[in-house]
Amino acid sequence: MNILVTGCSRGVGLEICRQLLQQGHTVYGIARTHTIEFQQLEDMYKGFVYFKNVDLSDAENAYKVVFKEFLGNKVVLHGYVNNAAMAYDDIITNLNLNKLEEMYAVNVLTPMMFTKYALRNMLLHHTAGCIIHISSISAHTGYKGLAMYASSKGALEAFSKNTAREWGGLGIRSNVVVPGFMETAMSSSLTEEQKDRIYKRTSLKQATLISSVAATVVFLLSDSAKSITGQNIHVDSGTI
Ligand SMILES: NC(=O)c1ccc[n+]([C@@H]2O[C@H](COP(=O)([O-])OP(=O)(O)OC[C@H]3O[C@@H](n4cnc5c(N)ncnc54)[C@H](OP(=O)(O)O)[C@@H]3O)[C@@H](O)[C@H]2O)c1
Repeated sequence: MNILVTGCSRGVGLEICRQLLQQGHTVYGIARTHTIEFQQLEDMYKGFVYFKNVDLSDAENAYKVVFKEFLGNKVVLHGYVNNAAMAYDDIITNLNLNKLEEMYAVNVLTPMMFTKYALRNMLLHHTAGCIIHISSISAHTGYKGLAMYASSKGALEAFSKNTAREWGGLGIRSNVVVPGFMETAMSSSLTEEQKDRIYKRTSLKQATLISSVAATVVFLLSDSAKSITGQNIHVDSGTI
């Protein structure tokens, strides 16, 4: 299968690419940074992995570069994984409109445009493809300082549910994976004490494993998940 993965340079996106390649799929990766880790995948899986440097904060430019130049109509897209995101953390009384708009461009507007063009590619090639968005447990539990970020993930969850309803008749599926707190660059600014408080809210009392989140994405893309659509799948160490 040909899978478009955004945010492939590190963290969860890199691990999703790694697991997809291990299973013999072809990956089209998007990020601003062409990291050594992604280049290692390119060396290991020559002919099965491609990279495009794109800034997703500019939706208009990003969809043109990705769907017209990078993929074009010749690539038959079987899956789109919307993993890239940025976190704008602050309390609501400090809300800055410019920062909010930039985060919404990356987390919501560009993924909605990419969904439009991923669907068009699937329609063109009569593919019963699959779309997966990566949300966050913060959209369900609430965390101080994450209201703006969590709201962007809530928007994605509603969008995915409606994508599933709108295109399910053609076999196209849309699901959301909802991770708990993971040890990645995005969460690196938290202190050990803040992390401990987050872990205490989980049943397993530990961070969510990146590998578990990535494996769930790979499963949802597979034929084994053919009857799963419109769902939010929590991979969050049992956050309560
Ligand atoms: N970490 C957590 O605790 C946690 C918890 C719940 C949900 N999540 C979600 O899980 C997903 C993966 O997060 P992560 O922890 O792996 O984050 P990360 O380590 O910060 O990686 C984010 C990825 O998104 C890309 N990206 C960010 N802004 C971009 C832009 N403007 N244009 C293009 N690419 C951009 C980054 O690539 P470049 O910087 O190279 O462009 C990077 O590959 C995100 O959707 C996040 O919201 C994370």
